[in-house]
Amino acid sequence: MANVKLTVNGRAVSRDVPDTTLLSEFLRETLRLTGTHVGCDTSQCGACVVHVNGKAMKSCTVLAAAISGGEVTTVEGLANGSLHPMQTAFNDNHGLQCGFCTPGMIMTGVDMVNRYKAAGRELTEEAIRHELEGNICRCTGYHNIVKSIQDAAAKM
Ligand code: FES
Ligand code: FES
Repeated sequence: MANVKLTVNGRAVSRDVPDTTLLSEFLRETLRLTGTHVGCDTSQCGACVVHVNGKAMKSCTVLAAAISGGEVTTVEGLANGSLHPMQTAFNDNHGLQCGFCTPGMIMTGVDMVNRYKAAGRELTEEAIRHELEGNICRCTGYHNIVKSIQDAAAKM
């Protein structure tokens, strides 16, 4: 067993879990934060993306114990009284259909906008499509997801 201490969405948590517990399992099954989805468990679909110490990460690729002491933000932690601009943009631009990929798309989208803004780089449509390579959507054809991220980037 491992004692995992994390700050999740601003709240300190400490739980004893098996050493092999993935961060995605820790979030969904231990903390019941089921906004983080698991589509493949093999690091391909991106439905499980969360922010670890401020950076997007596929939570099925990391053991919870390996990031003990760190900070995690899940899609539940993005809204702060009102929806995050990325969440509003997905809503306004019809960036989802079934919604299964959406938490990962939103967390990836926020990370990419933050990184490009910090670097003073323009987040072009081509760059958004390239950045989304690790996130799979089976419903939307991606056009409205790209539009949503462009919309949010202008407002963040
Ligand atoms: S569940 Fe993590 S990448 Fe698919
Ligand atoms: S909206 Fe259904 S998988 Fe993306």
